[in-house]
Amino acid sequence: MPTQHAAPANIDDIPGWLRPTDQRLINWLLSYQENQGVQGDLCELGAYLGKSAVLIGAHVRPVEMFTVCDLFDSPAPNEANAAEMLRSYATLTRSTFERNYLAFHDRLPAIVEGATSTIGEHVAPGSCRFVHVDASHHFGHVSVDVVSARAMLQPDGVVVFDDYRAAHTPGVAAAVWFAIHGEGLCPMWISPNKMYATWGDPTALRKALVEWLTDQPDSAWSDHDVAGHRIVQIADWPKHPPAPQPPPSAAPPAPPPRRPKHPIIVDLLPPAVTRALRAARRRREARR
Ligand SMILES: C[S@@+](CC[C@H](N)C(=O)[O-])C[C@H]1O[C@@H](n2cnc3c(N)ncnc32)[C@H](O)[C@@H]1O
Repeated sequence: MPTQHAAPANIDDIPGWLRPTDQRLINWLLSYQENQGVQGDLCELGAYLGKSAVLIGAHVRPVEMFTVCDLFDSPAPNEANAAEMLRSYATLTRSTFERNYLAFHDRLPAIVEGATSTIGEHVAPGSCRFVHVDASHHFGHVSVDVVSARAMLQPDGVVVFDDYRAAHTPGVAAAVWFAIHGEGLCPMWISPNKMYATWGDPTALRKALVEWLTDQPDSAWSDHDVAGHRIVQIADWPKHPPAPQPPPSAAPPAPPPRRPKHPIIVDLLPPAVTRALRAARRRREARR
């Protein structure tokens, strides 16, 4: 019998690869779009156990659709992909994804169980404001994902590529830079793990990002001119934002308040996730 694990109480409990820096950047990006009145669907290629899907799902408004695509329990389309699945995602099941997602949200996203190459059959062209590409790392698959992302996105929609520069994922780097050189993709900013790009005009969004970064006391970033593109490179943030400093002449500081067990989630996630997280924790404590 498979082991029954407790439902996650916050997204730090969900295994996955979404680091705090990108949690913060994706939250900023989706909130910025919302504040600008941008409306559109959201799509994730490669969901695994739901860590990034739970975060993205907190930004889906009632008129918007969120679709995730993953092989989950289905066979991979070729041997190289099957080997990747066995090596890295052997314990993945769709039911665990669903249980993790429902610990934070009332409804599941639309789920496409199968190869990402089929996503065009499920998501309408030009419908998305945001696409997260985080599935197979093989050049051929990522190249198809790039084409799919472009087709799904609205003109100024944003695509985020995971592992665009990791040592073990040269296929992702090759596919992404090929799109930049040959297919009009504009890189806007990069974190250590993800590239944020658009086929639209990057100017206003990149400017807004830089303004926001300038207001973040713990951010470290630099500008790069790469093959005619201005790319903002953002270093990993420390896990917790720095505590505000008292003015130099102020009285001695009061002892720090007791912090919740996973403060970064409470501090940084949007209200829907924070509420869901607290509700999940209350339910868990009630069961004890
Ligand atoms: C790196 S994980 C995704 C991580 C997730 N986004 C997160 O932040 O936790 C990659 C996922 O892509 C899926 N995958 C790999 N190849 C795929 C393919 N050809 N089509 C659909 N999904 C695929 C795997 O099953 C795995 O769940």
